[in-house]
Amino acid sequence: MTSTSLPDSLIATLPGAAYTDPGIFAQEQEQEHIFEAMWFCAVRSSELAKPGAFRTVEVGRESILITRARDQSVRAYFNVCRHRGARLCTEESGEVKRAFQCPYHAWTYDLTGKLVAAPNLTKMPDVGRTEYGLASVAVREWLGYVWVCLAENPPSFEESVIADVVARLGDVESLDRYDIGGLEVGRRIVYDVKANWKLIVENFLECYHCATIHPELTEVLPEFADGYAAQYYVGHGAEFGEDVRGFTVDGSEGLDRIPGVSDEQDRRYYAITVRPQVFVNLVPDHVIFHRMYPVAVGRTVVECDWLYLPDVVASGKDVSRSVELFDRVNRQDFDACERTQPGMGSRLYAKGGVLVPSEHHIGEFHDWVQARLGAQPR
Ligand code: FES
Ligand code: FE
Repeated sequence: MTSTSLPDSLIATLPGAAYTDPGIFAQEQEQEHIFEAMWFCAVRSSELAKPGAFRTVEVGRESILITRARDQSVRAYFNVCRHRGARLCTEESGEVKRAFQCPYHAWTYDLTGKLVAAPNLTKMPDVGRTEYGLASVAVREWLGYVWVCLAENPPSFEESVIADVVARLGDVESLDRYDIGGLEVGRRIVYDVKANWKLIVENFLECYHCATIHPELTEVLPEFADGYAAQYYVGHGAEFGEDVRGFTVDGSEGLDRIPGVSDEQDRRYYAITVRPQVFVNLVPDHVIFHRMYPVAVGRTVVECDWLYLPDVVASGKDVSRSVELFDRVNRQDFDACERTQPGMGSRLYAKGGVLVPSEHHIGEFHDWVQARLGAQPR
């Protein structure tokens, strides 16, 4: 079936192979395409609290080592030894005192990536300490997260990441008012989802499913029952129901409003997608920040942070009812994605499925993916 043979109400999706073919997944990961070409939100800055604290993260096909140097700046390197290529750090997180030492032949790099020691290095004075230091990756801190870009010439952060926020909210000031960088992680839940990363993006983009699978969310945000996503109109925030006191699982009282949040933003929910792997949800008293890590064609890890004002976290206030609301939403969404993934491999879906008009922006996402992979947009 091609899009031209569809009834006017429907739009064609990508073919099933886009969600199941390891070759397409590899292309998406590669340089020039998506994950190695764009800014990737890797870790929360507070996880690198002091110099020498590190995290390793898979970005595209590469392992990236992210750390904080003595001057407090965040640095990111390919996690590959310059001698014979051993992986420098195998742990997901940890801390070194002043240097990373390769466990194979002990080449040693300081926190700025410089080669500072190696057996017999003094006998090889022609070996450049920087030239044979760790290869660095572009880094930017924003919203309290470390973003990395593996491209040799990274795209402008303003024209990619920030442009996605502006496209959704109308301006970046609306986001700044939540002071996301100044909030603290009150709760983190990591979901291991057996679905292709694009199914998770597509699900987040639409609300056609809200009435069917999100009873608690539609109770708090009644307009979601109509199936029009909060992302449908620029600058639109979904309003809390009249009797709803807070963004909690039972609509009970939330916490104090984040001080910068305006009256217009109060009692509203905003959702933003920053391509390719970040979803942000804004409510008056907290922010829910999702980062996706595509692991394989049919598997994606989603790290979700619930961010609150520092005094909320320090005082140990009960945040469980707000965490429970979006944790349930996440599980409902990811169950739906996992239910869809096997269908992508069905011969019935070989040429894809269809989108209804309220999902038309998923069609735009598909065109964007196709364009990034070098195919002609449909
Ligand atoms: Fe790292 Fe040899 S591979 S020191
Ligand atoms: Fe949903």
